[in-house]
Amino acid sequence: MFLEMQHVGKTFTDQEQQDFEVFSDIDLSIAENQFVSILGPSGCGKSTLLSMVAGLEHTTEGSITLQNKEIKQAGPDRGMVFQQPSLFPWLNVRDNVTFPLKGTMSKKEANTLADHFLKMVHLSRFKENFTYELSGGMQQRVAIARALAMDPKVLLMDEPFGALDEQTRHILHDELIKIWQETQKTILFVTHSIQEAIKLSDRVVVMGTRPGRIIADFTIDIPRPRKRDNEHVIELERKVMDLLEGEINKVLKEELSNEIEYSR
Ligand SMILES: Nc1ncnc2c1ncn2[C@@H]1O[C@H](COP(=O)(O)OP(=O)(O)OP(=O)(O)O)[C@@H](O)[C@H]1O
Ligand SMILES: [Mg+2]
Repeated sequence: MFLEMQHVGKTFTDQEQQDFEVFSDIDLSIAENQFVSILGPSGCGKSTLLSMVAGLEHTTEGSITLQNKEIKQAGPDRGMVFQQPSLFPWLNVRDNVTFPLKGTMSKKEANTLADHFLKMVHLSRFKENFTYELSGGMQQRVAIARALAMDPKVLLMDEPFGALDEQTRHILHDELIKIWQETQKTILFVTHSIQEAIKLSDRVVVMGTRPGRIIADFTIDIPRPRKRDNEHVIELERKVMDLLEGEINKVLKEELSNEIEYSR
């Protein structure tokens, strides 16, 4: 399989040497070009899992392989887009996109690449602007162009549209699908929005918590563009919602009882 997680577990150890297991035994196989979304209650380990695929965090159990090579550190074959665009305010749009390419090609080549991807996200007109002159949605598009310019095999997106208004989010959904179809990337996409996950992905993986684990894996073969009033979309939304609600209630109940315990 293209991207393979086998028995992946993660335990953090705090300063008092207390272990905290986020999840264990995560098995997930992702095919090349697949668009996979991950949903799950806050704290179940979605970002941790994505960071491990990025190579920014290490697994404490199991292994993650990309094209049969174990992931041990960050690399140009995996591009990450975060909830906040994290751009450099002292660089213009184009220089933000070329920044990670430094040392791998000439400035001229990097600029040509940047221009190509800025065109793809419809920001050609703004390449000389500073990033603080752009709206949040435009900044997020710069972050996407920057990730794409590295030509990664896998695009890792952690709630990339979470901070945007609904209208902008819809526009970026359509752009992302177009880019995905054009570039044939494999996308692993974390979101809290069931609608977003179902609208975009080939597969929706639902995680549960305490302990973190995969509780469902839905394959979606509804043709795109997917409309919200499509009966299959509605049916799937309801199924995922029921699963998630159960998990979120579990977390809330536990947090509440911890809180009562603590205040005694
Ligand atoms: N570097 C770290 N050190 C210690 N604990 C951590 C670290 N990073 C994450 N955790 C813990 O691991 C758990 C999972 O965190 P993570 O950020 O992966 O959750 P998430 O599913 O992305 O949540 P959200 O939906 O709120 O973004 C949390 O309990 C968090 O406190
Ligand atoms: Mg997260």
